Amino acid sequence: RAPGRVSHRGIVLHFTGDPDDPEHGAEHTHLYEDGVLVVEDGRVVHAGRWHDRPRVPGAPERVEDHRGDLILPGFVDTHVHAAQIDVMGTPGAQLLPWLTQRVYPAELRFRDPAYAAAAARDLLGMLLAAGTTTAVVSTSTHPDAAEAFFAEALALDLRVVAGKELMDACGTSSGGPVPDALLDPTWEKGHEATVDLARRFHGRRGAPHDPYGSSRIGYCVSPRTAATSTLPALEAAGALYRESAAAGEPLWAQGHLMENRYEADRVLGLLCGRGVHARSYLDVFDRCGLVGPRSVWAHCVWLGEDYPTTPASCPHRPAGGADLDRELLRERGAGVAFCPTSNLYLGSGFFPLHRLRGDGVPVGLGTDIGAGTGFSPLRALHDAYTATVLGNGFPAERPTGPRRSLSALRGLYLATRGGAEALGLQGVIGGFSPGCEADFTVLDLGATPALRRRMDTAHDVHDMLFALMVLGDERSVRTTYVTGRPLYRRGADPYTPYP
Ligand code: GUN
Repeated sequence: RAPGRVSHRGIVLHFTGDPDDPEHGAEHTHLYEDGVLVVEDGRVVHAGRWHDRPRVPGAPERVEDHRGDLILPGFVDTHVHAAQIDVMGTPGAQLLPWLTQRVYPAELRFRDPAYAAAAARDLLGMLLAAGTTTAVVSTSTHPDAAEAFFAEALALDLRVVAGKELMDACGTSSGGPVPDALLDPTWEKGHEATVDLARRFHGRRGAPHDPYGSSRIGYCVSPRTAATSTLPALEAAGALYRESAAAGEPLWAQGHLMENRYEADRVLGLLCGRGVHARSYLDVFDRCGLVGPRSVWAHCVWLGEDYPTTPASCPHRPAGGADLDRELLRERGAGVAFCPTSNLYLGSGFFPLHRLRGDGVPVGLGTDIGAGTGFSPLRALHDAYTATVLGNGFPAERPTGPRRSLSALRGLYLATRGGAEALGLQGVIGGFSPGCEADFTVLDLGATPALRRRMDTAHDVHDMLFALMVLGDERSVRTTYVTGRPLYRRGADPYTPYP
């Protein structure tokens, strides 16, 4: 449990909305160069200028001095595969062969609950070492592996949104690429396991850490793709997600969407063969009731272009392009996980960030471990910058229109408040408004010789933030606090984050 009231002094930055919002961007950015974050009993009391901080008359002030460091809300990683921790750094080249050759065999190891528990401990340690305090996680299809993951998150009282992957189609016995042993035995069994895990873990309290006794565990209904689940499985998943909201205990939902153009066409073709003539990949999830607030769709690389998503193999597909999908996401209040490292690594494409944000779709940042090559959201932001530049078209020497990239403020917003908005958790995590959970990270701006030189020559704090976004990584993370408790300190073994 975090002790009493503590004032953390340093450069404080947080957002209450998108800093690139054309009308309100400036109001959404809160940057205090000599700032303070006041934390009490695991919650934020105040964030502002050091000299204006609230004092409790007569009470001694406890100060942690982080001057020169950046105090930022803990990163929110909106897409992580717990069972792919050992897949990182395997040759990728293309989504579908990579899944078959590397991912599915690795996920099969999570049949063993002891292996899954050890991997979950390592995963959470690596997230904290990267400054991440909330992650949206899909575990393998094995219920015991999901249980092991939740047990580790509860032990640390971490805020996680997680669920067992649902997958009951495309097995080898039907000529597909997924090993039968990785599939749910039947869709009913996969569903029963989901219901059981949600009942036991969603909303479960991680006492004694949080004196408010609020739960930090959220269950996420997790069909892998629209093609790797049968229609009854998707419909049951959608019913569970909707009914939980109607009952006032809303679950989250997640899945992959429009990551790779070939895969997207193939998904629609497969579904067409099963008699589902969907307008788009998103339309399939939507018909099953899975698209709504607190649903987060990973990748969405191909939601920018209005290219017809019709696979030649589905002549019955209703008309309509990706513009309708963007509208649908916004209308339903669904979020998107932007996974730039993974999208570059697997050659999936360049995420249409400005288009989706322009259309009002909530976007968070995801590492997509294991197609992502590291846990650091700062590294992912470096790739986000590259992807937005390349997304302008190339070669770059002949610009044909306005060229946009990614500002440090928007990047850091995506990795914090943006993720919280995509999850419907704004005002709870990802920011420093009074009452927010005190999950934050303290970043050393000069963690490497290159960063030190760059900081020394930076012309203002915005230039420093940009350098951090492009050159920073885990080495920049000095301390990560969870509900006010320092759970990771640099120099400690990242595999054993326990205090
Ligand atoms: N599409 C379906 N499964 C996966 C996965 O595990 N990783 C990624 N990046 N895309 C997927």
